Amino acid sequence: MQIVRGKKLEKAADGEFRQLAQESSRVVVDVGTGDARASYRIAKENPDWLVVGVDPAWQRMTQTSIRSRRKPAKGGVPNLLLVNSSIESAPEELAGAADELLVLMPWGKLLHGLVRGDEDIWTGLRTVAKPGAPLTATVGTSIWREPVPRDIQGLPELTDAYVEDVLTAKALAAGWRITGFRLTPAEEAAAVSSSWARRLDAASTEVIATLTAVTAEPAE
Ligand SMILES: C[S@@+](CC[C@H](N)C(=O)[O-])C[C@H]1O[C@@H](n2cnc3c(N)ncnc32)[C@H](O)[C@@H]1O
Repeated sequence: MQIVRGKKLEKAADGEFRQLAQESSRVVVDVGTGDARASYRIAKENPDWLVVGVDPAWQRMTQTSIRSRRKPAKGGVPNLLLVNSSIESAPEELAGAADELLVLMPWGKLLHGLVRGDEDIWTGLRTVAKPGAPLTATVGTSIWREPVPRDIQGLPELTDAYVEDVLTAKALAAGWRITGFRLTPAEEAAAVSSSWARRLDAASTEVIATLTAVTAEPAE
């Protein structure tokens, strides 16, 4: 598995991840971590946990990696691991490792796959999860308001009806039981804060869709 260490990308030592996971009380995987600031905050607030940020755009994680590698008194966070990967091809060390998964304000393939219920994205998330692991995903709904970005045109909007009529069955086929769907103003949704959610705080008209799920046996 490729780990971001400072400005470099390095191959993890054999067994490195397993040992870190064994030493921690909980493994949280933040999928599409972006600049990894949310992962950093969670790791800092929960020193007994291992927080794993996963994103294929590894250069965006370097500043947070540099900060996390300082001495703890200077902001260092030894329980943060930043992995260069997309979720649909996650390294095998991560298989079955996550006690909890987060997908906060995704874009690109992660956003499209999450919303459409694409098998590769939902199966990728499932592969990383431990049995019974919860998933929380947030999406800012302004992407579906005019002017709709070109990339979003044709992407179904996350609504109660869409989640119930379409997404629930697709998620279940990939081993996820959807447990909740809420539309809330940005400041209320900031409980699961991320850099993107924070950036949106100023625009208080933003409504955040929060989808929760838990692993389930795939549907027959
Ligand atoms: C808006 S950014 C930031 C997200 C970050 N969670 C936050 O809230 O600040 C979305 C991220 O999703 C990542 N992403 C897109 N497709 C992905 C995939 N298939 N697997 C993992 N990450 C993906 C992008 O590289 C990008 O960094």
